[in-house]
Amino acid sequence: MGDPNSTSLFRLGVLGSGEGSNFGAIVGACQNGTLPATVAVVLSDVEEAAISQRAHEAGVACSHIAPGKFRTKLDEAAEAAYIKALNDAKVDLVVLAGFMRILKGEFLRAFEGRVVNVHPSLLPAFPGLEAWKQALDHGVKVTGATVHFVDQGVDNGAIIAQETVPVLDDDTPEVLHERIQGAEHRIYPETIGAIARGEIALRGRRTVRTGR
Ligand code: GAR
Repeated sequence: MGDPNSTSLFRLGVLGSGEGSNFGAIVGACQNGTLPATVAVVLSDVEEAAISQRAHEAGVACSHIAPGKFRTKLDEAAEAAYIKALNDAKVDLVVLAGFMRILKGEFLRAFEGRVVNVHPSLLPAFPGLEAWKQALDHGVKVTGATVHFVDQGVDNGAIIAQETVPVLDDDTPEVLHERIQGAEHRIYPETIGAIARGEIALRGRRTVRTGR
């Protein structure tokens, strides 16, 4: 199960910049057969990010592609290199897993409707960076995790799945982020599985689940 050379399985291209715990949950679900997909390639904008080590350990092809001159997005050459690497790996779905750069224009046109992201809040609350810290600072009692399609806006695309997480009185940013990540690791592989099985339909801004 989860053979990266399989041509029959739904093929994922994972982009990440950091720890790679969501990649770990996804590749684990591919390997144990609960997610009917294979991770064909991992790409990172950060040299020697932990996600690259995890990919290596999981036997998944992984490349570092330098992002170019900008701080928050890819420059033109980098964007083209990411598109080529994902096309060469014949990916069906681009999975952002802690990829800390905004994707736009050419990239989204190349994979229209085929890019998903996980975000550590109940969107549309707390888009952007360190959403768990934003939740603590704002004083909400409930936050969570969201899986959504990626569009031109920041953390704005159609929502596919959400799980709530309580905010407890003694929470530190780290403890709350860890609790949210537990939810991410449940809903991200499950949602990707639903997409792979063709069970997610888009109706305007809403997604609906078919086939269950
Ligand atoms: C995750 O919590 C993810 O939701 C967040 O980065 C973390 C990456 O963790 N992404 C964003 O904040 C994107 N706006 P991981 O590398 O261990 O999967």
